[in-house]
Amino acid sequence: MDMQIDWANLPFGYFPTDYNIRCEFRDGKWGPIEVSQSDTINIHMAATSLHYGQELFEGLKAFRGVDGKIRIFRLEENAKRLIESAKGILMEPVPIELFKEMCIKAVKLNERFIPPYGSGASLYIRPLEIGLSPRIGVKEADEYLFIIMVTPVGPYFKGGFKNTNICIMRDFDRVAPHGTGRWKVGGNYAASLGAGHKAHEMGYSAVLYLDPKEKKYLDECGPANFYAIKDGKYITPKSDSILPSITNMSLMTLARDMGIEVEQRHIAVEELADCSEAAACGTAAVCSPIGEIDDIDTGTKYILSKDGKPGPVTTKLYNALNAIRLGETPDIYGWNTIVE
Ligand SMILES: Cc1ncc(COP(=O)(O)O)c(C=O)c1O
Repeated sequence: MDMQIDWANLPFGYFPTDYNIRCEFRDGKWGPIEVSQSDTINIHMAATSLHYGQELFEGLKAFRGVDGKIRIFRLEENAKRLIESAKGILMEPVPIELFKEMCIKAVKLNERFIPPYGSGASLYIRPLEIGLSPRIGVKEADEYLFIIMVTPVGPYFKGGFKNTNICIMRDFDRVAPHGTGRWKVGGNYAASLGAGHKAHEMGYSAVLYLDPKEKKYLDECGPANFYAIKDGKYITPKSDSILPSITNMSLMTLARDMGIEVEQRHIAVEELADCSEAAACGTAAVCSPIGEIDDIDTGTKYILSKDGKPGPVTTKLYNALNAIRLGETPDIYGWNTIVE
């Protein structure tokens, strides 16, 4: 079929593709991999996913590289993180090999939706697992559905790589101190909607959450991890209430390779006053530079950019990570899975 997609202007939204890949866990085992052309699912109205939040997901990307090859970035790390999320809310872990096979199949079958090299767009891969068993009492399911859907998404920085402002709102938490923050489960995102909406209304791109126990340390942004540059060092929060971002993990490696010292530790809010750069990092943006952080309730404004432009370290990290994803520089750590 002939298709004209305006790759550069695609939003970060759902764009229908040809196929999704499904697999069900029943009778204590994963069944056959199925290819579906339907974008709906038919499940029991009492399913645990609908009532008790037994739902988890992942998010990763495939790219068309400079050499025309298709690369999926850090496939195995996403498979491993899904297993941690599944254990966290008593769901059935998806075996790493099954996760990989289904992602690769989804990418291959939807190859015509992989944006061309140079467009800045990519194919977003969204693995999703839900509990199927009907339950009225609060109890885990024993049957699960695992789906891989893919959708092309546009470049994150449409008007170019640029700063945005974020805010701290002390009346909101997205997770509890020993709660579900380190897992990628739907409830965390439901809990962040209210604060996120309020922040957007005030003109901020995201909320920077504080640790929910003491409200002293930085945690992460609604949909991304956080790092700052202080005295030339890359500092990023250590916390068990944040998602272990695979982008952040990759940036830490790249920073060390650039000779930048990396510290993963508690970061007190006030330290922001001594930072020269900050960014939100994740699959969507790589790193999204922050111009200013406003602590709404205390009225403190932290300025993270003197000239309104992304700082030199963030720019270097952004370019380095993108170059690996697009096959422009050698993938010395084996982060890419080439889809053939
Ligand atoms: C809450 C949260 N933190 C961090 C991230 C960034 O993680 P990653 O770099 O693996 O995409 C995401 C997005 O996936 C997220 O939803």
